[in-house]
Amino acid sequence: MLFHYGRTFEINDLAVDPEFQHRGIAKQLMDRLLSDIKKQGMVGVNLITAGNTFLSEFYEEYGFKEEKQVILMGKDI
Ligand SMILES: CC(C)(COP(=O)(O)OP(=O)(O)OC[C@H]1O[C@@H](n2cnc3c(N)ncnc32)[C@H](O)[C@@H]1OP(=O)(O)O)[C@@H](O)C(=O)NCCC(=O)NCCS
Repeated sequence: MLFHYGRTFEINDLAVDPEFQHRGIAKQLMDRLLSDIKKQGMVGVNLITAGNTFLSEFYEEYGFKEEKQVILMGKDI
């Protein structure tokens, strides 16, 4: 799921079918996405991902950094 707000893009779920994981598909999707949105004039990308998994390291490979000034809040109802 991909959105953009003005010139800031948002990745809202990156997923590869478990049957096809570990074949470099997510890497290809990220390379293509970042190249395409830059060409389209986007100046930033945001995403939220799960903590305590390999995912933060995966995104750091693409230059993403943890945003210290955002607090994710939630509540059970
Ligand atoms: C995250 C996800 C999209 C990766 O898809 P993928 O196509 O298997 O990833 P790739 O094969 O392109 O792997 C790229 C790199 O990610 C890392 N990586 C991928 N899966 C990993 C795993 N299970 N554990 C540790 N590192 C992993 C590796 O560094 C890998 O590079 P390498 O193969 O050179 O070691 C996939 O695991 C997925 O769909 N997960 C469930 C949904 C999810 O958590 N999405 C993120 C929410 S934002």
